[in-house]
Amino acid sequence: SDAPVPRLTVIGTGYLGATHAICMAVLGYEVLGVDVDPVKVEWLNSGRVPFFEPGLPELLAKALDSGRLRFTTNFAEAGDFGDVHFLCVGTPQQKGSDAADLRYVDSAVTELAGHLRRRTLVVGKSTVPVGTAARLTELVQRLAPAGTDVELAWNPEFLREGYAIDDTLRPDRLVFGTESAWAEERLRAAFAPVIARDTPVVVTDLSTAELVKVAANSFLATKISYINAMAEVCEATGADVTGLAEALSYDDRIGGRFLKPGLGFGGGCLPKDIRAFSHRAEELGVGQAVAFLREVDAINKRRRARTVDLVRELVGGNLAGARITALGAAFKPNSDDIRDAPALDVARTLHQAGAHVTVVDPAATENARRTFPELTYGSDALTAAAGADVVVLLTEWTQFREIDPHAMAAVVSHRRIVDGRHALNPAQWRAAGWEYRAL
Ligand code: UGA
Repeated sequence: SDAPVPRLTVIGTGYLGATHAICMAVLGYEVLGVDVDPVKVEWLNSGRVPFFEPGLPELLAKALDSGRLRFTTNFAEAGDFGDVHFLCVGTPQQKGSDAADLRYVDSAVTELAGHLRRRTLVVGKSTVPVGTAARLTELVQRLAPAGTDVELAWNPEFLREGYAIDDTLRPDRLVFGTESAWAEERLRAAFAPVIARDTPVVVTDLSTAELVKVAANSFLATKISYINAMAEVCEATGADVTGLAEALSYDDRIGGRFLKPGLGFGGGCLPKDIRAFSHRAEELGVGQAVAFLREVDAINKRRRARTVDLVRELVGGNLAGARITALGAAFKPNSDDIRDAPALDVARTLHQAGAHVTVVDPAATENARRTFPELTYGSDALTAAAGADVVVLLTEWTQFREIDPHAMAAVVSHRRIVDGRHALNPAQWRAAGWEYRAL
């Protein structure tokens, strides 16, 4: 179409927003990133990414060099600048409740609305309870200056940490929840280079678009808990869940991805999304329809408890005084994110039971130390394992997969390893004299 290229603002510069802003600038759009945190804004403007994401620092440098990207704390500037405003702020779990905390979404819309000056599209990307977009439409239209034509759309984001750039530039699909042909046309203009790569576009209403995201994350969480439930049954019978998972994976209706048994899911998305979804469905009177998600959560939590039990069994039943080396802190490899990290949950439970726990992680140590200063942190796996009674692998970083069992055998007190992620080769570790246990 001959629609002019829209100028984009991206409000909220966390994992999602920073990646979106940088990628859009690289694709050729003029982009203004907005955040209430002046430190983040200063970092980004000077070419530093405030979190760990492979490839993103290089891409930020490229985007800044192009002159098409900058960051600000000023919402008035955002209102002047943008034709399309993306909302990328967080929706964490509320304290003491399963519900999502919408204060950041609400305040972003409230801050922006008064500064809108022309026909504008506000596009939600954050993961929200269904019905939020309808409420925000009312809010933004009430707060926008009289005569300003503002519409809301929803464009859920499916990026994974660690693959954020690729997932943004080459997404599996784009979902546009819109209320008018104009909004759809604006969104198509804002994603033209992505759509040109034959990316499927699914156009829906607002509620469907909101639901797609939670439905997708719920499905993924269910798949992980499904195989972990099978692991519980396997353990009771002496069967091997890795062989079971492999055999299932060759059925393409099932597929092997997200079918890896182990310590289970964590992070800032899956756990809180399934809880918020249950909560919202209950509010809507359809809690029964997703009652299984409570079970998915419970299965996932049992994995953490079972990992602690395996370590306890290996030291003969009493963790007090045991020296444990915990390999991993991040909720998954290639990330420094420790939100709801299974690894740190296990490490803290071991610590609370009286064990001396030394945690090693290639990227998340600083975040972990800040949040859990009571734990001890090591610089690398071999040094940290000196004198260990049990080594427990909690996050499957490549560095840990590649540990030489002979080299590590030389430094520990007892050759006992718990592989919480099925990341190691049991035969190789047993051949080096280790007592190897997995979930
Ligand atoms: C997840 C979704 O995969 C993204 O599609 C979504 O956009 C994102 O949440 C979000 O809502 O923003 P992410 O949290 O980055 O992405 O991480 P995943 O790669 O999905 O991993 C989630 C957790 O599941 C990790 O703790 C991982 O260790 C665990 N996992 C994954 C397993 O335990 N087993 C598996 O087979 C796969």
